[in-house]
Amino acid sequence: MSTDVRQKFSSPWVFILAAVGSAAGLGNVWRFPYLAYENGGASFFIAYLVCLAIVGFPFLLLENGMGQTTSKAAPGAMGEVSKKYNLRFIGWMGVLVSMFILSYYIVIASWVTNYAINSPAMPWQADSSQYFYQSFLGLTDSITQKGAFNLLTFVFVVFLYMALFFVMRQGTQGISGVARFITPIPFVLLMLLAINSLFLSGSAAGLKFFFLPDWSKLFTLKIWAAAAGQVFFTLSLGAGMMFAYGSLLNKKVNLKRAVLIIIAGDTLCSLIGGTAIFGVLGHMAVSQGVPVTEVVKGGIGLAFIAYPKALSLLPFIPSIFSLAFFLALLTLAFTSMVSLVEAAVAPIIQSKPSLTRTKVLLVYFAITLCFGLLFMRGNGLYMLDIVDHFTSGYMMMFVGMLEAIIIGWFYPISQLRTNLENNSQTKISQIFDWLIKLVIPPILALLLFSQIHTDLAHRYGDYPMEYLVFYGLGVMAFVFIMSIVLTRSLPNGKLAPPPASA
Ligand code: PFF
Repeated sequence: MSTDVRQKFSSPWVFILAAVGSAAGLGNVWRFPYLAYENGGASFFIAYLVCLAIVGFPFLLLENGMGQTTSKAAPGAMGEVSKKYNLRFIGWMGVLVSMFILSYYIVIASWVTNYAINSPAMPWQADSSQYFYQSFLGLTDSITQKGAFNLLTFVFVVFLYMALFFVMRQGTQGISGVARFITPIPFVLLMLLAINSLFLSGSAAGLKFFFLPDWSKLFTLKIWAAAAGQVFFTLSLGAGMMFAYGSLLNKKVNLKRAVLIIIAGDTLCSLIGGTAIFGVLGHMAVSQGVPVTEVVKGGIGLAFIAYPKALSLLPFIPSIFSLAFFLALLTLAFTSMVSLVEAAVAPIIQSKPSLTRTKVLLVYFAITLCFGLLFMRGNGLYMLDIVDHFTSGYMMMFVGMLEAIIIGWFYPISQLRTNLENNSQTKISQIFDWLIKLVIPPILALLLFSQIHTDLAHRYGDYPMEYLVFYGLGVMAFVFIMSIVLTRSLPNGKLAPPPASA
């Protein structure tokens, strides 16, 4: 018999910490600061806040709310939307997206582990770019050259899976433990790093890029697309996760308030991370006499090249700051991975209660590890870039758009609002209904079309077409097909009666 007793979180705070742990991740530290830098500093932040209000808040309330009111993870909750049509496949699509995200997210987390272990020696000090691409990744010149298999990455990935297994086999109790004891760690570490940044000479030069607005950029589609995309990624929407966590929340809890706190916590993490990063980059630029624009790198390069280099040049205990940074990244990544795993394990066990949690975890880890092998060769970084682009750039938003349309119009959304209001005796404005039904679907559709338009105009990353088709479109096709297969093969299982709280 299943060991997945659907134990609820023991308090709303544990739920909030778990959800903040999912939301605050690698994306807050390398994606948010870089997007802000590229899109006019504070102007980006304004666009981001507007997107949080009109997309992030209602959507998080929708996903958590569907989980909370049905006590089911994404597929089961979507299955409740219509009696006539089997809409569980939309939930499974989200779950499959989270599966691909996990398979590369854990590889990046293994690089972070390696950097944390190497922090005392800081072998990247002399040439951080050469270290990351050549010495560490063994990156090949092009995606067509496979290169050598990176055994060290594999070893750390296995180690991370073991840590995840240890936590996740305990179900809600394991997730709660991580939420209580690990979620706060990166906040403390990043805060220390940010305070240190503020006192460095020249930090103002870097912080200017993060905080001063460039109003002209506020009126471009690019800034709004970037802000909405980041809201989706950072709040872990469209990937089944927030349904799964919502399903572990007691029905009486005031979800509206919890969601506001989750969003505030996640945004705080991005702001502290950005301050820590741009202060140090400013210091490095000024002390080397070069413009800040020359020391900033986009994407993964920010976390593994520009920032480690800048930290290594600090006048005071650089290796400790370096260790603090990579530990912050590792803990951020770990809490997000816990949620990525739960997003898939919860619905599988709910659909087939005869399976044990241990068995499901082992099979799920084996499958994601197999996909992950793709990212451990010399061309792994290119592969990772493609799979990330098609999952977080397209699939999360596509799944989100389907959820908004289907729940908005067919459930309908007023039903969800009434359920939430009745359960927790709070009032939710009718604006929520309109945002889900009328505002969010066109926004997501517009984002998707603009993304398709850009990708058709310039082949993404200039990768050969066959790779984009096979690993990009192939992943999307896999998600579509497997979501149907899972819907047919895993019908709605009977839930065991819920036991008392953990
Ligand atoms: N929200 C996390 C971040 O910002 O890094 C990571 C994440 C987890 C993204 C799960 C997407 C997802 F489905």
